[in-house]
Amino acid sequence: MGKVTKAADLFDLTGQVALVTGASSGLGWRFAEVLAAHGAKVVLAARSIDRLQALKASIEAAGGQAHCVELDVADDAAIPGAFDAAEAAFGTVTIVLNNAGIAITKSALNMSRQDWRKVMAVNLDAVWFIAQEAGRRMKAAGKPGTIINTASIASFTVGFGIGAYCVAKAGVVQATNALALELAKDNIRVNAIAPGYILTEINRVYFDSGAGDGTIANIPQGRIGDPSDLDGTLLLLASAKASGFMTGSTIVVDGGHMLTGGR
Ligand SMILES: NC(=O)c1ccc[n+]([C@@H]2O[C@H](COP(=O)([O-])OP(=O)(O)OC[C@H]3O[C@@H](n4cnc5c(N)ncnc54)[C@H](OP(=O)(O)O)[C@@H]3O)[C@@H](O)[C@H]2O)c1
Repeated sequence: MGKVTKAADLFDLTGQVALVTGASSGLGWRFAEVLAAHGAKVVLAARSIDRLQALKASIEAAGGQAHCVELDVADDAAIPGAFDAAEAAFGTVTIVLNNAGIAITKSALNMSRQDWRKVMAVNLDAVWFIAQEAGRRMKAAGKPGTIINTASIASFTVGFGIGAYCVAKAGVVQATNALALELAKDNIRVNAIAPGYILTEINRVYFDSGAGDGTIANIPQGRIGDPSDLDGTLLLLASAKASGFMTGSTIVVDGGHMLTGGR
């Protein structure tokens, strides 16, 4: 049992190095800010380097440490280089946020193979191969680590026009489970956050246009989420002091939306 740890210590990430994919926008931007505010050195990864630099400046202005890495997560060959750059800046990456994601909205009969592959490459393949690269390096360095994948309530439900996205996100949950099983012996934990609807660029048009009003009406809490609604779940999974016995878990954060079918 031992003595009780106060929350400030429980969620203190000092000494950790976090790599956040999709840090240039939405959830990834917020994840990076929260991790940095709790002491982690944060490597910001995405394609939009100008946005990453703006985030780095804002994190540094708040007293944190950040480094930018331009990365297309669908480019397998670029992944080792991103980790090399992260290590050169801050040392071995010990926290990975596999968060980059895209949605291509097309009906099942109109989804081209090219669009399907794009959705799979960014939302699912990258989760696996970034976790693989991170896991190999954590193991080689003899360091414990944690990998947090951004799943979705779409991992468990289906919706019109977003079939490929739902299939990829279902895969993220199983990738989380499979990686958790194999990496536990190396002291690497793998978990996922499955958000419901959170207002970001991925869905702003849908909600701002009123097209999403019916969706909001189906959320028991009567609102869509804000990226800050994930802060506590993120910190729980990121901190080994808080969740050291958790691996292979997917935590749903959705205002109760799954209770009404998640549509
Ligand atoms: N918002 C929601 O309601 C919601 C709900 C459930 C799950 N999610 C998931 O949450 C994650 C973040 O989404 P968001 O809502 O924050 O959307 P967002 O604001 O559109 O951000 C998406 C991020 O992914 C990055 N990205 C896209 N393609 C990339 C690529 N090929 N390589 C590297 N980075 C790439 C983008 O950066 P660049 O364009 O600069 O590369 C951007 O930073 C996604 O996995 C999404 O599926 C979101």
